[in-house]
Amino acid sequence: MSDKNRIIIFDTTMRDGEQSPGASMSLEEKIQISRVFDELGVDVIEAGFPIASPGDFEAVTEISKILKRSTPCGLARATKKDIDACKESLSHSEKFRIHTFISTSALHMKHKLNKSSEEVLDAIKESVSYARKFTDDVEWSCEDGTRTDMDYMCKTVELAIKSGARTINIPDTVGYSVPSEFKTIIETLMNKVPNIDKAILSTHCHNDLGLAVANSLAGVTAGARQVECTINGIGERAGNAALEEIVMAIKTRNDLMPFTTGINTKLISKASKVVSNATGFPVQYNKAIVGKNAFAHESGIHQDGMLKNRKTYEIMTPESVGVKKTSLVMGKHSGRHAFKDKLSDLGYVGITDDVIQLAFGKFKILADKKKHVYDEDIAALVDDSLIKEENVVKLKSLKVVAGTGEPQTAEMTLDILGEIKTGSETGDGPVDAIFKCIKKLYKHEINLQLYQVHAVTEGTDAQATVSVRIEENGKTTVGQAANTDTLVASAEAYLNALNKLIIKRKRKAPDDSVSVSA
Ligand code: KIV
Ligand code: ZN
Repeated sequence: MSDKNRIIIFDTTMRDGEQSPGASMSLEEKIQISRVFDELGVDVIEAGFPIASPGDFEAVTEISKILKRSTPCGLARATKKDIDACKESLSHSEKFRIHTFISTSALHMKHKLNKSSEEVLDAIKESVSYARKFTDDVEWSCEDGTRTDMDYMCKTVELAIKSGARTINIPDTVGYSVPSEFKTIIETLMNKVPNIDKAILSTHCHNDLGLAVANSLAGVTAGARQVECTINGIGERAGNAALEEIVMAIKTRNDLMPFTTGINTKLISKASKVVSNATGFPVQYNKAIVGKNAFAHESGIHQDGMLKNRKTYEIMTPESVGVKKTSLVMGKHSGRHAFKDKLSDLGYVGITDDVIQLAFGKFKILADKKKHVYDEDIAALVDDSLIKEENVVKLKSLKVVAGTGEPQTAEMTLDILGEIKTGSETGDGPVDAIFKCIKKLYKHEINLQLYQVHAVTEGTDAQATVSVRIEENGKTTVGQAANTDTLVASAEAYLNALNKLIIKRKRKAPDDSVSVSA
């Protein structure tokens, strides 16, 4: 990478992104995402934290086998066993990166690590040089970097480079910094660390104050040449810097930021959809670049301006990020072939013919009922069909009594591995009655962690997508379902999460809540 203005895009959607509560992705979903990221042009894909769980180890292993262009990377604390797990899972790829980190702020060293600053220096030397035994491509991060004493940070960075790190990452772990301060940190490192020319500086900014992208770009203008980011900005707490925003800001304001990336921006929308589908995290409507409204013009004045010259209100084209001009799609006369093409446009890859057939059947029924079928409707149908593949507990029928006066009651019939069971239950509201009734018919103890309803399209005939997250003994699953009837979607989303949990139990999946943290 000789071009001094080329920015390395390091994606951590499957590591830091997966640390968002409820964003766990299955192995199949991670493989699907990795293929899209490889095609998108991501330079380094942080595929997981191999020591954290057998699931993470397996994901990093499988991903490192399939990448064609991107470099796979795994995260490790400053210990030999973490680094060994990285090496073992990544070495299926010809080239790979080990990313090792340790906290350097006084607060973290004292309260989290219980180590002196000297002990941390020893750990840096040992961990980086140990990782270098396995690969030339070692990245070192000073966790809580932005709250670290600057002179001490310079010392740690110099030592990490001397020990063999080729990338030095400066995390704003708690999203506390502001652009002017972050810029100064990078400039100071550039000016004061004597061997800084032997490494690439990297940014890793969290969004707690909504400044992750601004801080990352400030870092780039000061000399950082790698940005760590996630698709849709997912990540711990308020998330990480959003890949799509970093890349499009650089592309759109190239007059002020004369940098390049290897990202094929036309695939950004597809990547956003694949990640949203896998995590069950909807993208907020007004999200920059990938939100449903990011290119919508509602007001008369804006529409008039747009018709005269698109540049009046459009600083980048929807096509440049892979958004088709209109989201209005097929109608009841559309065929199976067009439907399949549409799924690929929407970011669904590797879907079986059975699922396509199921979704296509549902699409035809919906197209008969609904005047306009939008992309979002189709995505909701496919998600629903994907879910139906491996179900133990299926909803046969549901009747709900709601309203004033009487207790809300749900009466339902479930098919539990072929056995038909019917029952009813009252609750504090119709959804509570539904969930209680499911628990009565299929005995289980779980904690409901999240219940969310989104209307995916407009109008009173809109489809509702319901997301449910449940937890049992440290294992969490997310279920989603879509239906024009919100209560049916609620029952199906709950059952979807439950079926995933049953599969997880069968596979003896490790707990999601591991004792290691990044
Ligand atoms: O935010 C952070 O500090 C991290 C490090 C592990 C890079 O995610
Ligand atoms: Zn982070």
